[in-house]
Amino acid sequence: MNVNVTITPETEEDFNGITRLHNLAFNQTEEGELVKRLRKTSKFISELSLVAKIEEAVVGHILFYPIRIKKDTGECNSLALAPMSIHPGYQKKGIGSSLVKKGLDTAKRLGFHSVIVLGHSTYYPRFGFKPANRWGIGPPFEVPDDVFFAIELVKNGLTDCGGTVEYPKEFNML
Ligand SMILES: CC(C)(COP(=O)(O)OP(=O)(O)OC[C@H]1O[C@@H](n2cnc3c(N)ncnc32)[C@H](O)[C@@H]1OP(=O)(O)O)[C@@H](O)C(=O)NCCC(=O)NCCS
Repeated sequence: MNVNVTITPETEEDFNGITRLHNLAFNQTEEGELVKRLRKTSKFISELSLVAKIEEAVVGHILFYPIRIKKDTGECNSLALAPMSIHPGYQKKGIGSSLVKKGLDTAKRLGFHSVIVLGHSTYYPRFGFKPANRWGIGPPFEVPDDVFFAIELVKNGLTDCGGTVEYPKEFNML
């Protein structure tokens, strides 16, 4: 990365910048609205809502939000990586990779065992994500196998977690 980028947990002064960033990067308002709604819930963890900034301007954001994987008997706690975006003028400079890596490190430090992501098939494997069906984990809707991933943050973090991911109702807007 040639530009001077800082990555920190979000603070209130970043909220509007985060919304604007997602609107721009996704060219629609759903992801920005999703972050606003999730932020109001009790499960939201500010430390897992990371912003990348260049000279105080928000150029990247990633959110990891607690979810459950429902099994026939019981459930496993996990995190959903969503949404994530980088300002179109700053993509392909490694900022997204830095956000993913810092987020995974933070999630592990906070005691989470795994992360789930629905996303670009060629992007997430570089961080160690593998198709979630390897652990018998699937989404609650139809998607191709090569866009639904999971990663273990600790050894055997997904052992015996085969089941269906349960997203909070706020995700229904996507
Ligand atoms: C996808 C995204 C987050 C990647 O962030 P980034 O900072 O540009 O990515 P990095 O610089 O860390 O990594 C660049 C690599 O990612 C690849 N990449 C970028 N966008 C990609 C995409 N849509 N699908 C697959 N690979 C992609 C680049 O080709 C590059 O590959 P290389 O290292 O082999 O050359 C960013 O392009 C973005 O915000 N896109 C619009 C919103 C979006 O799609 N969000 C993710 C939803 S899953």
